[in-house]
Amino acid sequence: MQRILVFGSTAPSGFPLVRNALQDYPEAKLVLCVRSPQKLPADIASHPSIVLTEGQLDDTTAIDRALNGVDAVLSALGPSSPKHPKDKTPIADFYAALLGLMRKRGVKRIVLLGTASARDPRDRFAIGFKAMTASVYTLYYPGFNEFRAIGQVFRSEAAKGIEWTMVRVPFLTDGESETYVVGYPGDGKAGTRVSRKAFGKFAVRELKKREWVGEMPAISNP
Ligand SMILES: NC(=O)c1ccc[n+]([C@@H]2O[C@H](COP(=O)([O-])OP(=O)(O)OC[C@H]3O[C@@H](n4cnc5c(N)ncnc54)[C@H](OP(=O)(O)O)[C@@H]3O)[C@@H](O)[C@H]2O)c1
Repeated sequence: MQRILVFGSTAPSGFPLVRNALQDYPEAKLVLCVRSPQKLPADIASHPSIVLTEGQLDDTTAIDRALNGVDAVLSALGPSSPKHPKDKTPIADFYAALLGLMRKRGVKRIVLLGTASARDPRDRFAIGFKAMTASVYTLYYPGFNEFRAIGQVFRSEAAKGIEWTMVRVPFLTDGESETYVVGYPGDGKAGTRVSRKAFGKFAVRELKKREWVGEMPAISNP
């Protein structure tokens, strides 16, 4: 891996994603595509392997340029602002465009953050997950709608030929544990809380291990 393009690196979940990638791929350059560079912690912003590029998600020319020479993509993007639109899905639209650009450039691999608002056929009823998605639907519909739409993009023709893994996270915490379990809602393994550090660890491991290609595993702390 020579060059990895990262989206969402200004998210608290993006920090451990970047730090794990720096650790696991010491020879690689990490290209961070951001709109708020001031949010990056100093250890990331000043790291010699980091290449910063500023751009909005709908700037396909900038995104295409950022993909030049890239081997794989990581993303912790997701809606968080109260201003996130409820009738539009800019992040899902971005992923649809990104997948096309990746195919054009021959970039095959992406590992991204998702949530259980995106359903998988293997999901089974679990009261904790039901309560979680119902509360997101009620209290933050734009988030529910966006993550559901992201799931639909990756299950569609748009992702044909791309080796994607959507890491579905439950409630995120700032806990120190990097230990994780991986499964599906309702299988008795995946719980309803995960630290951002465990997300970063698993997502970067999965980039290399490729155990969940074309799948939407749910992770949690044990
Ligand atoms: N809190 C929880 O328990 C929980 C549970 C499950 C999932 N989630 C979701 O998981 C994701 C990550 O959460 P987090 O707390 O680590 O980070 P966060 O603060 O929600 O960060 C979201 C990231 O996405 C970027 N982003 C959002 N909308 C964008 C847009 N329209 N254009 C460009 N960039 C955009 C943000 O960029 P900027 O920094 O420039 O804003 C930031 O890098 C979020 O979507 C969150 O809703 C949260």
